[in-house]
Amino acid sequence: MTQTHVFDVIIVGGGGAGLMAALNASRTAKTAVLSKLYPTRSHTGAAQGGVGAALGNLEEDHWEWHAFDTVKGSDYLGDQDAIDFMCQEAVQSVYDLEHAGLPFSRTPDGRIAQRPFGGHTNNVTKKPVHRAAYAADRTGHMILQTLYQQCIRNGINFYDEFQVLDLLLQDGVTAGVVAVELATGELHVFHAKAVVFATGGHGRMWDITSNAYAYTGDGVAVTLRRGIPAEDMEFFQFHPTGIYKLGILITEAVRGEGGVLFNDKGERFMERYAPSIKDLASRDVTSRAIYLEVKEGRGIQGKNYVYLDIRPETVNLYAEKDGRTNPDGSPYRVTAEEILAKIPDIADFCKTYLGVDPVKSPMPIQPTAHYAMGGIPTDKFGQVVMNAQNTILPGLYAAGECACVSVHGANRLGTNSLVDLIVFGKHAGLKAAEYANGANLPNQQGDPTDFSRQQIDWLMNGSGKEKAAKLGRELRKVMSDDVGVFRTEEGLASAVEKVKELRERFKEVKVGDTSKIFNTELLNTWELGNMLDLALVTAVAALERKESRGAHAREDYPKRNDENWLKHSLALLDGDRVRLDYKPVVITKYVPKERVY
Ligand code: FUM
Repeated sequence: MTQTHVFDVIIVGGGGAGLMAALNASRTAKTAVLSKLYPTRSHTGAAQGGVGAALGNLEEDHWEWHAFDTVKGSDYLGDQDAIDFMCQEAVQSVYDLEHAGLPFSRTPDGRIAQRPFGGHTNNVTKKPVHRAAYAADRTGHMILQTLYQQCIRNGINFYDEFQVLDLLLQDGVTAGVVAVELATGELHVFHAKAVVFATGGHGRMWDITSNAYAYTGDGVAVTLRRGIPAEDMEFFQFHPTGIYKLGILITEAVRGEGGVLFNDKGERFMERYAPSIKDLASRDVTSRAIYLEVKEGRGIQGKNYVYLDIRPETVNLYAEKDGRTNPDGSPYRVTAEEILAKIPDIADFCKTYLGVDPVKSPMPIQPTAHYAMGGIPTDKFGQVVMNAQNTILPGLYAAGECACVSVHGANRLGTNSLVDLIVFGKHAGLKAAEYANGANLPNQQGDPTDFSRQQIDWLMNGSGKEKAAKLGRELRKVMSDDVGVFRTEEGLASAVEKVKELRERFKEVKVGDTSKIFNTELLNTWELGNMLDLALVTAVAALERKESRGAHAREDYPKRNDENWLKHSLALLDGDRVRLDYKPVVITKYVPKERVY
């Protein structure tokens, strides 16, 4: 039997953005969080190295420098008004987390510790700046735990292990969501004046990925089905350092602490690709460099990986060569004990999964699918916009990785995912509550569960000619082969056809498990449908964008083309047709230039 609930604000997703939104909305509005996971298992917990904010605790820094680095990192596709807003707000947001109890690592005099990260610079000297505030290599984990504790303290309503299947709209206004309770298989209708999507990314559609199993693009797929476009989906970031074959993240903080990348010839190859910032170049540049080293036969033992070396003797040698100093001007030198204290989880992962002790041997790494720059289009207050004219959909909000504000443009800087979710999670929550407090609950017409039931019936009663697991493998292969670090017209065109074929074959799947209690086969099959939809949009948008920018590297169009392509894509999905529109990038004070690292 369907159960019905009424709230002012529903938050979909219990990760960092969702919890931040919930904390802020619940101050003035009756709020509930729906999460397909137990909230502290959300993928925010996998963010390791730090949250960027120009606190200036170890050396001079300014939010304007952070903003410029973000614009440059985005390959000038980020909206500059939103980037300024984020970098300014980041500073207070980090202090708010500190005051909420987050156990940051500390400087000797007790301030929040900060470390260098890729693409973050002193804008005057162009040298890496200590900007990433961190809690060892568990920064996201600590953010998640701290926010969850605060939500519990504030008495927020949690519906854990509830999968949202549909967004309810009535006469063009948000009216709530429909969710399935995983423990019972029952549908629940949540009527609400405002809904905030904070459902994370969709990196599970690639083979080698740092993303959790839950990262299947649910929020973007649900909103696409309700006619809300997806923005900039062609831009998906590959993090340079995933554990070889497994994709598990090795934080960029390893390079921030002095780690160096080497090819099979023992060359520090980043000197060739980014002569000034070397191993701390932005992620798109570093991932492409690794890919090219491998392609040209300089992968370790001719295989598709290189070494990341954080052994103290290596770090000290290259720190001396680079003239790296501590913020007080003394030479930068480290011991094995100091390294292990700063990256304890990485050391554990490497020992567990690779049998490698990183202070004794280099780590085998390869680029790993990591972060969706694209998603549900919003303004800087998390309000979802419907088109190139930025028309707001009343009552609908999105924040975190599932949203596209756009502050990351074509390539996100490391640490800015956590900045994004604390800043825009907060503002989406505040705006949603403000809206809900001035709105009436829409009068829902018809049975709100119709579309959710249709989706489930269809998956439970297919012909069974196809197996979801097989389709999933084929999807990951085509996305990795043809919609990966480097792309071509031919590869993308064949990926579009292949994904269309997979979507056709998906109509023939049948969920074998008929039980209602924790039917994870049904859930996983529905999630596969989401990824198939987003894969099609991604491949089509990538095929159409005939330039290289940030994470979108076309071998056949190797240059950025501002004249024709300095614009955001907006994709709508209609059957197997993707309709693309474009909207201008907001440029305020940073004139697009060629990026030099
Ligand atoms: O490298 C990392 O620690 C990842 C952080 C991020 O994606 O921002």
